[in-house]
Amino acid sequence: MASNFTTENTVIVVFGASGDLAKKKTYPALFGLYRNKFLSRETHIVGYARSDIELEEFKKRIVSYLKFIPSERSLVDGFLEHLHYVSGQYDKDEPYQKLNQYLETLAADKPEMNRVFYMALPPSVFIPVAQHVKKNVYTTKGFNRLIVEKPFGKDFDSSKVLLNALGSCFKEEEIYRIDHYLGKEMVKNIMSLRFANVFLGAIWNREYIDNVQITFKEPFGTEGRGGYFDEFGIIRDVMQNHLLQILSLVAMESPASLDAEDIRSAKVDVLKFIEPITQDDILIGQYVGSEDGSKPGYLDDDTVPKGSNTPTYAVASMFVNNERWQGTPFILKCGKALNEQKAEIRIQFRDVENCIFPHHSRNELVIRVQPNEAVYMKITNKKPGLSMDTVISELDLSYRRRFSDMRIPEAYEALILDALQGDHSNFVRDDELDEAWRIFTPILHQIEGEHIEPLKYVYGSRGPEEAHQFIESHGFRRDRQEYIWVDDGHQRSK
Ligand code: BG6
Repeated sequence: MASNFTTENTVIVVFGASGDLAKKKTYPALFGLYRNKFLSRETHIVGYARSDIELEEFKKRIVSYLKFIPSERSLVDGFLEHLHYVSGQYDKDEPYQKLNQYLETLAADKPEMNRVFYMALPPSVFIPVAQHVKKNVYTTKGFNRLIVEKPFGKDFDSSKVLLNALGSCFKEEEIYRIDHYLGKEMVKNIMSLRFANVFLGAIWNREYIDNVQITFKEPFGTEGRGGYFDEFGIIRDVMQNHLLQILSLVAMESPASLDAEDIRSAKVDVLKFIEPITQDDILIGQYVGSEDGSKPGYLDDDTVPKGSNTPTYAVASMFVNNERWQGTPFILKCGKALNEQKAEIRIQFRDVENCIFPHHSRNELVIRVQPNEAVYMKITNKKPGLSMDTVISELDLSYRRRFSDMRIPEAYEALILDALQGDHSNFVRDDELDEAWRIFTPILHQIEGEHIEPLKYVYGSRGPEEAHQFIESHGFRRDRQEYIWVDDGHQRSK
């Protein structure tokens, strides 16, 4: 535990405590922090939700989402002692006053008690909850912090409405906007790789890098979440936030320091050099049922409105029009119901000019975000033996092998700890959100306004056929030689 950090005087209030996000992510992350001794013995975690259930019942539900082995049962029991539960409505003052009294009792013997409010809530109640909290539960006996998660609106204007409404209740330094990809180990590693390795720093520009591909693939469709998903689509769900965040870390200039505001300013600066996406820069898709009929198409999902044109796949090409990157395409690709689960950043370098080896392939640096975190560099090597032929090989930093005794924390665990410690580096600042929406709003409005039909692709495939041509027409080159990276989990990847 950081020496001057303690949660002794902090109460964490989880709004939406009985919902999916809280059960699947927030509480398991808090358990992770407890397990790693980041929560002091006196930290209280108060769940608040509409369901009128007993604390014991609530605990039982939470336990079913925690990952532990039987010998850790006492650890789990220790964690459960921190939990409290208060039920109440989201739109009336009185239950919040009751919550406030409850929190006061927990802090009865303390002169100081900080409050961290975690909103694991649907967006429709973000504003009323923030307003009621400000009015009834805001403390003057310590700091207040509000953790909130996307969707941050649906376009530039609706995001502005949300920003202003939350901004009238909480100061920007009190707000922690989660993009959970910023909590992932390999996303956090981008800055270390770029700014602490002289050779990477030296070639990290348009002179040496031909194109950058940032990919997110999921092997399952929207099963069960069709209602939510259809309102947003893959561009808002993944591309405008998770992938764009990665892009800004890959493309930004070095921040002046590791200070949160320096980092966030460097990220905003890079976004300012990106033009809004136009129809020529993007291709959208929607999955249909698998060939053998075992997997349903998007439109077969009962929760999806009939005839919906919502994209479940998108690939876009963007340029950062500054001196470092002018002319280098950043290709962002994401989709559901594809052939595999994978998130990665692939930096493809330029060809060697007048290379004396005719069949050499391009160098690529791959940062594998998930699964199986890794950084590997594809290089051309002499084929061992009595010839001068070349073969593609790799310099491979697979985390499972190199850091086998280390446990990589879950993204939410890392982010909640940051918020408890007051570190904003990995949270989205208001102006960053404005820039992200500026880039994506026109194309979203066009897709929806003109009912642009997505291309079809089969559940479990690699996406629409046209996407491969799109990516290659934007500069990405497939290997000239067959190459397969074999990671230590025997999973194979191009
Ligand atoms: C969420 C999206 O933000 O990220 C989901 O809303 C997506 O649609 C999820 O499945 C992916 O997160 P992870 O951490 O599982 O890669």
